[in-house]
Amino acid sequence: MNMLITFHNTYVRCMKPMKQQDLKVTFRKMTLKDYDSVIALWNEGDIPYRPQGRDSRKNITLQMQQSNCYFLVVETEKKIIGAIVGTHDGRKGWINRLVVTPSYRKKGIAKRLVKEVEHHFSAIGIDIVACLIEDWNTTSMQVFEQMGYTKHTDILYYSKRKSTKT
Ligand SMILES: CC(C)(COP(=O)(O)OP(=O)(O)OC[C@H]1O[C@@H](n2cnc3c(N)ncnc32)[C@H](O)[C@@H]1OP(=O)(O)O)[C@@H](O)C(=O)NCCC(=O)NCCS
Repeated sequence: MNMLITFHNTYVRCMKPMKQQDLKVTFRKMTLKDYDSVIALWNEGDIPYRPQGRDSRKNITLQMQQSNCYFLVVETEKKIIGAIVGTHDGRKGWINRLVVTPSYRKKGIAKRLVKEVEHHFSAIGIDIVACLIEDWNTTSMQVFEQMGYTKHTDILYYSKRKSTKT
């Protein structure tokens, strides 16, 4: 049995076999109507998002209009089961807020979301893709390492914020 994946109405057969019946999933751009479902997914996945800062409805609305932001969701039977936010600064692409709902994990969905964002970046000439992973999140580390990402242990993350909520 195989998982059928659609993206922009194109059928793709996923390499990873499904244990049960065929699952048809669709990858598409996120719309504002998806906001609450995506927030619910982030909560479910313990993603440390910023509801009063950059992840507020207002700010996500603004970001979705920016050409350097690429919001994707994956759904099955009209239910959103995964999401990813790709952003770039003109030099480097960033993967943010990757999540898959627990009952659909380990089926290659995160991998496919990351690949879609990588393809998007590649098509616009962004050849470096990076992500920040919290030090406790060994699952996420394994996902990215399995996808060929290199861990940099010699870099410390510094940031400057207007408030702790941003
Ligand atoms: C991290 C997360 C998005 C992975 O989603 P997923 O759809 O289960 O991942 P995939 O099935 O695409 O896995 C891709 C590869 O990562 C590895 N992997 C996935 N889950 C793993 C786990 N729990 N332990 C070890 N390796 C794992 C596997 O090698 C897999 O490839 P393979 O099955 O072909 O060998 C999901 O666990 C999640 O939503 N976690 C909570 C939110 C989170 O931590 N997000 C990351 C923020 S940086």
